[in-house]
Amino acid sequence: MPVGIFDSGLGGLTVFNAVQKRLPDLPLLYLGDNKHTPYGVRDAQDIYDLTVQNTQYLFDQGCDLVILACNTASAVALKRMQESWIPSDKRVLGVFVPMIEAVSERNWGDNSAPREVAVQQLALFATPATVASRAFQRELSFRAVGVDVEAQPCGGLVDALEMNDLELAEAMVHSHVAALLRRMPKPQAAVLGCTHYPILEHVFQEALGPEVSVYSQGRLVAASLEDYLQRHPDMVGAAGETRCLTTGDAKDVSVAATRFLGKAMRFEAA
Ligand code: DGL
Repeated sequence: MPVGIFDSGLGGLTVFNAVQKRLPDLPLLYLGDNKHTPYGVRDAQDIYDLTVQNTQYLFDQGCDLVILACNTASAVALKRMQESWIPSDKRVLGVFVPMIEAVSERNWGDNSAPREVAVQQLALFATPATVASRAFQRELSFRAVGVDVEAQPCGGLVDALEMNDLELAEAMVHSHVAALLRRMPKPQAAVLGCTHYPILEHVFQEALGPEVSVYSQGRLVAASLEDYLQRHPDMVGAAGETRCLTTGDAKDVSVAATRFLGKAMRFEAA
């Protein structure tokens, strides 16, 4: 059985791509809910309902392990899903924790008390729903003390990226970074807390300046998935092909995904 990778749209492809690079033999089933993108401007109940529905779809396709390659779903829905919905023989992992472990200099499973870390001024760029959830600050506080997090909700950026309007998206990155720097003039590090944003990582880096370390989520999630699968080899079958599905129009999404990732992508209708 393949590992399921879910996002509201194209953004999770940055995780899909990093996982394919690191684990080329791992069969993957990508699902983009392009019909309902963006999630980041929806309310918590709506995000929960859509995430549950799409995760169930991936379970029904034979995935035992699903990665929510969507920070909005991870921040808003995952905790509630883990507490009351996920069947005992299935696993759902989010993309938040690998980022937080990197910021807080921890390895997986290190549950020791929160401690001081090198980064004290941290910028977070994410969707309005992720920022409103404060899930990043909550998870970070379990692992690190003394980190000031300044969060910038980047309204409109996912829509621009889904439409492949890079000129608009770049202008938005500059204005969101400028807004954040007015409140936190010297961040040491920045987290791109939305899987759509790594496509514009170079623009964030340029706007923030060379002294700011920008955390790259795809690479961190791929490394933590490899580690997880070594500990849980039963979560994946040896054989199988990798496929990409969408709740939207398969032809349109294939064109958009090819432009988004800069390599040929073929989507089928879910
Ligand atoms: N890629 C998503 C995330 O990481 C999506 C956001 C959205 O649909 O607004 O948050």
